[in-house]
Amino acid sequence: MHLQGIEKVTLTALDLETARKFYTDWGLTLTHQSDAHLLFETLNGCQVSVHESLDPHLPAGIEKDPTLREITWCVKDAQTLEHFASKLSHLESFEKHPDTVKCKDPSGLSIAITVTQKRDLKLQSAITNSWDQRQRINQPSPIYERATPVEVGHVVLFVADLAQCSSFYQEFLGFTVSDTYPNRGHFLRCTPNGGHHDLFMLELPEKRVGLNHIAFTVRDLHEVFGGGMHMSRCGWKTELGPGKHPVSSAIFWYFHAPTGALVEYYADEDELTPEWVAREITPGPTMFAEWAIKGGIDGHTRRQIEAQAPTGQFMTDMPKK
Ligand SMILES: [Fe+2]
Repeated sequence: MHLQGIEKVTLTALDLETARKFYTDWGLTLTHQSDAHLLFETLNGCQVSVHESLDPHLPAGIEKDPTLREITWCVKDAQTLEHFASKLSHLESFEKHPDTVKCKDPSGLSIAITVTQKRDLKLQSAITNSWDQRQRINQPSPIYERATPVEVGHVVLFVADLAQCSSFYQEFLGFTVSDTYPNRGHFLRCTPNGGHHDLFMLELPEKRVGLNHIAFTVRDLHEVFGGGMHMSRCGWKTELGPGKHPVSSAIFWYFHAPTGALVEYYADEDELTPEWVAREITPGPTMFAEWAIKGGIDGHTRRQIEAQAPTGQFMTDMPKK
């Protein structure tokens, strides 16, 4: 029995109007609005809940606001929820609610688990013609004027004790290690058959705890480009992208978010099975990005804004086994 993925992320914002504008431009649908709360959803019904920082009903933060206050993971049915309830029940932080169980991870981040309300979707994505596979016939590839994210695909956290946190997610929540930066970072997926990672945890020398980014899955790499250029036209600031991760193979684009840290559009990540053998990879800037455009592409000129060379070893420089 496994978690299926992310059902909801609960975030804080210092200014809800800025957050409303940002996530509307990001391509989410606003489904509820009050003075202290905004609720958005992605195409498949995955939720992004944004609260005023002082909301007393929120779980405690693990760093200064604005940031992530809770991740809600989903299961397919009540029986699987009961399975996780019994696994977590002896934890001091365990809470059982009518449709949800909760606990805290070793960083103190609130973790909720609930039966999924996400919808199955039939979406048309880009078809690629490669040398030996000509599948797009008499049909141009898509151009997106803006993105409409399918769901929240993964979250990246800074943790103070990587070994302890990684063990917790494996032992209590059934995660599998996809790849590691030894003693530095673990890429974890919640199902043995699935996308490369649902959770990446990174331990920094200064042991900072907090949110690094929240990643939204879009249909294909063309939607990463179209979505990013729309955000740029709307005046939002790129941190890095578009670019490509050598680990996971995903095409990405990161923006600074008013709910803390970064948000990412990504597409085309590796799909793994139990046969996948986790790699130990030496971290570095060119392991993070095989290539990337610093500062982004200007959505009006549709050309790059700035550029700066990285240093370090490229993944293709690694010794062959
Ligand atoms: Fe990411």
